[in-house]
Amino acid sequence: MTRKLVAGNWKMNLSLPEGIALAKEVEAQLLANPTGDVQVVLGVPFSHLTAISHALEGEVAVSAQDCSANESGAFTGEVSAMMVASTGAEYVILGHSERREYHGEENALLAEKVNMALEHGLKVIYCCGEVLSERENNQQFEVVGDQILEGLFHLSKEQMKEVVIAYEPVWAIGTGVTASSEQAQEMHAFIRSLLQKQYGVIAAENTSILYGGSCKPANAQELFSEKDVDGGLIGGASLKANDFVAIINSF
Ligand code: 13P
Repeated sequence: MTRKLVAGNWKMNLSLPEGIALAKEVEAQLLANPTGDVQVVLGVPFSHLTAISHALEGEVAVSAQDCSANESGAFTGEVSAMMVASTGAEYVILGHSERREYHGEENALLAEKVNMALEHGLKVIYCCGEVLSERENNQQFEVVGDQILEGLFHLSKEQMKEVVIAYEPVWAIGTGVTASSEQAQEMHAFIRSLLQKQYGVIAAENTSILYGGSCKPANAQELFSEKDVDGGLIGGASLKANDFVAIINSF
């Protein structure tokens, strides 16, 4: 079983035709040059999920970037986990720092979203990470520990098999300032130690822990060479097929 996974997070970018073209280009490059054991995922806007899921041939999985904590009902503008799953998407990104910051999403709400996603058969990419002031105050382990404990640790060992964790220090997102590979490794090892305490060695060893934040072709290899860095959650660089595939090929 591989832990290697690279996911793109397109955020709120690209028209539908542009998105289909990019997804197909990424898949074509991967089919021409197989990556072996790296799972590749594209996190696309809700509006693009169905068309992109159908445009792809199965080499690349599709992910939503959020889902509702509610099953269904009068929640105007929301998209449920059931709806996401019904498009053919296999994953959902939850707890991204932009959702936490701009939509006030907290760990307790995220725990509900995680439950809803898993109930509907989606795999979860759960994001965590400290802001700059927290790192400056050396609170990063406490913050990330709480995000993981409160958002995920109600899950059973069986459910945790469907969860990928993405460590994204907020100060590194879209800033061009990446965490050093030592900083990433230190946090990833900490996250794995939490998993080990909660779920045991095997579950901890089988969980993919991704790094995100200004990851690009020039620094991916160094980051991915760290023992506990199992891949990346890629923002800006996932909007260009060549850059994204170069990151995938960094393993
Ligand atoms: P950037 O790669 O653009 O820094 O974004 C990272 C991110 O937020 C992925 O979810």
